[in-house]
Amino acid sequence: MAILPLVLSPDPRLKEISKPVKQVDDDLRAFMDDMLETMRTCDGLGLAAIQVGRPVRILVMDIARGSQRYDPDAYDETATDPLFLVNPEIIEQSDELFTFDEGCLSFPGQFAAVKRPKRVKVKYLDYHGKQRELEAEGLAAVCVQHEIDHLNGITFVDHVSRMKRDLILRRMKKRERYEDTAS
Ligand code: NI
Repeated sequence: MAILPLVLSPDPRLKEISKPVKQVDDDLRAFMDDMLETMRTCDGLGLAAIQVGRPVRILVMDIARGSQRYDPDAYDETATDPLFLVNPEIIEQSDELFTFDEGCLSFPGQFAAVKRPKRVKVKYLDYHGKQRELEAEGLAAVCVQHEIDHLNGITFVDHVSRMKRDLILRRMKKRERYEDTAS
C-alpha cells in the first residue's frame, strides 16, 4: 500500500466532477487500499478519490474509529468500518437537519458549521462490486454527504456563508503561497 499526496484547496481539481466507475477490479481495489491508508495516516473520517487527484466516483469512510476523536465513548465495535463506496448515490434523505463543525483533509486546519439532512440512505457498490445500501445518521450521514459532494466538485465551504467561505479560501491561498516559498 502507498500513501498518496493530497490535493489541497485552492487546487482547481477540487471543483472537478468525478466520473462513474465502470468496473470494480483488482487495480481499483489496490487504489482503494491506498486511499484508506492515506486517510488513516492523515487522521481523516472520509476521503474522496479526487482528493488524491483521481476523478472517479469512489470514497472511503472510517467512522467508528474516527468518531472517537469527538466522543471517546462513541466507538462502535459492531460497525463495519472501513467502508468503501463506489458510485454512491443518495436515494433518500430526512427533512430533519443536523449541524456539525466540518473539516476536510483538503482544507487543513479549517472548520465550519454545516447543516445537512440528519439521515440519508445511499446506494453504492462495495469493495467487491456488489450493490449495497447504507442507512447513515448523525456523523456517518455528515461524512457520506460531505464525501459525495466532493465527487460533484463541491466542498464544505460551498455550504457556509460567503463571508466565512472567503475567509477560509483566503487562508488556504496564503498557506499555498507559504508552502511555495518554503519548498
Ligand atoms: Ni472533504
